[in-house]
Amino acid sequence: MTYEAAADIGIGSRASIAKSAVLERSAVIDLDAVRHNVRQFVGIASPAAVMAVVKADAYGHGAVQVARAALDAGAAWLGVAHISEALALRAAGVDAPLLAWLHTRESNFQAAVAAGVDVGVSGWELEAVVAAAREQERPARVHLKVDTGLGRNGCTIADWDQLLGQAMEYQDQGLLRVVGIFSHLAVADEPQRTETDDQLSLFREAIAMAEDAGVDTEVRHIANTPAALSRPDSHFDLVRVGLGIYGLSPFEGATSAELGLRPAMTVRTLLSNCKKVPQGQGVSYGLNYHTSEESTLGLVPLGYADGVPRIATGGPVQVNGVTYPVVGRIAMDQMVIDLGPLSPEAMAGLKGAEAVMFGNGAGGGPTADDWAAAAGTNNYEIVTRISPRVPRSYVNELPEAPAGAGRAETAAL
Ligand SMILES: Cc1ncc(COP(=O)(O)O)c(C=O)c1O
Repeated sequence: MTYEAAADIGIGSRASIAKSAVLERSAVIDLDAVRHNVRQFVGIASPAAVMAVVKADAYGHGAVQVARAALDAGAAWLGVAHISEALALRAAGVDAPLLAWLHTRESNFQAAVAAGVDVGVSGWELEAVVAAAREQERPARVHLKVDTGLGRNGCTIADWDQLLGQAMEYQDQGLLRVVGIFSHLAVADEPQRTETDDQLSLFREAIAMAEDAGVDTEVRHIANTPAALSRPDSHFDLVRVGLGIYGLSPFEGATSAELGLRPAMTVRTLLSNCKKVPQGQGVSYGLNYHTSEESTLGLVPLGYADGVPRIATGGPVQVNGVTYPVVGRIAMDQMVIDLGPLSPEAMAGLKGAEAVMFGNGAGGGPTADDWAAAAGTNNYEIVTRISPRVPRSYVNELPEAPAGAGRAETAAL
């Protein structure tokens, strides 16, 4: 049930229901950290501009809030995968240059053109975009995408000349404007690999072919977070940064702090239960874990329905400044930590204590990287999968008032 629905049937006010949900469990997003990270990339990329990639609800951080923070900190562009994501930003009043790059024949190109959303075009989309432009009596803004080696979207180099020719014909007819040329990298997170060199040289070739065809772009772009950080020769006019603006490291073996980044998301809750158990107590479905001595079990009310990977037994949870591994199977709604033998006083101190699944890692606390290691995945997936059942709350949100006003330090409920 949504907060609105609960309020409608008189269970409580929307604000009070939302507030208690946030206090129980939440993903707290520090927008000051987002602004700091964006400023870092603005500095690194200059004179190239920064596109803040806010697809997938800003990797789980909240697209509208992150978009506003990123623009405030100097990002010039926003990027999303789906046109529907772009339209949601426009509906929230975000009017910055905005590119959407992943479409199907059901994508709403008409609404994109009407809303001034730039559209990535790899081939077949060109006709759909032109039809939308005709209908809207407004030129579409397109970025032509070339596949330089990733093997996903993008026009092959073999078909590139043909796509350029068609696009230029439509541009001459006033139906579109080729705003950009772009591509995407496959292995930039592994800087020692040589395929990035191959992709960059093919990209330069594709740009030269476009120039020969008379294309005069505003922006040429290929870099993602790891390339922005490690390959200045990939910056061109614009870098598309996702992971980095959330403060996470794309490199194995380099922490956020080492890259000068601040993780923006903290996932926290309150212990649901804390109880003394005998030696040999089995824990959770399957009874795969048994206590080795008389001990204390803490129940953490987050599970795979909240986005905790079920496979990530051993992942860290911090309670009262101490980090404990999750023991036994992670269930839909809950997971268990073994707090060890505790005095009654220590146990009393843990009842209802805050439990942090991951945060900014300050003081050695658990991080999204730790959970990625426990789950055998990457930090992108850990933050992006935190589910809508975990309410987002925001700290250090800038007030909507004119620039120069003070900063709000409150959680938005
Ligand atoms: C086309 C495109 N550009 C840029 C990005 C941002 O990548 P990153 O999060 O590594 O910065 C993505 C994300 O996967 C993407 O799909």
